[in-house]
Amino acid sequence: MFGKIWKDKKQSPLSLSYTKEEILRHPIPEHVAIIMDGNGRWAKKRALPRAAGHYEGMQVVRKITRFANELGIKVLTLYAFSTENWKRPKSEVEYLMKLPEQFLTTFLPELIEENVNVRVIGNREQLPDHTRRAVEQAIAETKQNTGLILNFALNYGSRAEITYAIQSIAKQVEKGLLSPEDINEDLVASYLMTKDLADPDLLIRTSGEIRLSNFMLWQLAYTEFWFTDVLWPDFTEQHLLEAIAEFQKRGRRFGGV
Ligand code: IPE
Ligand code: IPE
Ligand code: MG
Repeated sequence: MFGKIWKDKKQSPLSLSYTKEEILRHPIPEHVAIIMDGNGRWAKKRALPRAAGHYEGMQVVRKITRFANELGIKVLTLYAFSTENWKRPKSEVEYLMKLPEQFLTTFLPELIEENVNVRVIGNREQLPDHTRRAVEQAIAETKQNTGLILNFALNYGSRAEITYAIQSIAKQVEKGLLSPEDINEDLVASYLMTKDLADPDLLIRTSGEIRLSNFMLWQLAYTEFWFTDVLWPDFTEQHLLEAIAEFQKRGRRFGGV
């Protein structure tokens, strides 16, 4: 739909550049989560409709998924649509709801080929039927895959997730199946949408915004954060290497010494 004509060849300046081989000499984060932000501003800078930014962002999802798999990252969680993003103009929401189909129709064979396991966190019931069907098909068709877990946060909001977990736990208590003393951190985590996943080791947010925007509030308790001014459609493999290099320099103490 939006061709390559708008592609900006000029990359954002990098403080340092790294090779994949250099990065792989040290432990890499097993779970990387990304708040992919800045599609609208990318388009605005080019006097294009916001949709053009979202389309370009989708191409970057493909590129970064492939690279994350090559690096041996185990889980890549991508924030694609928040529970608050419904506030956007109807036409933009409609476009965003078409992207999962577009992405999956084009790239599902490739994801299968690359042994990627697609998953989704977020409320699927509120999605338009066509979006939900595309997502469920991708989940079903990649269920057996043992490579990278590509986890889309789609209609995801952390407060909604935690609220739902509390409701579910309260119901169990009401039925007498759980007692309040049984409620510990592991139990709470087992009621979250990420119950089968380890917490993210590294969180990346693009576009210069330094906030979480309701993303994985429980799961990010001890995650390393990396923020960049680069807009998501400009994000490259080299930026991911830079984020991982920075991660490798951090001393994670988890409250210890
Ligand atoms: C991120 O880009 C994509 C979604 C939130 C769906 P934005 O659309 O938020 O881009 P900006 O922040 O307006 O530049
Ligand atoms: C966060 O970006 C949500 C996604 C990237 C999907 P937003 O653009 O919605 O966040 P705010 O509004 O700047 O906090
Ligand atoms: Mg934004």
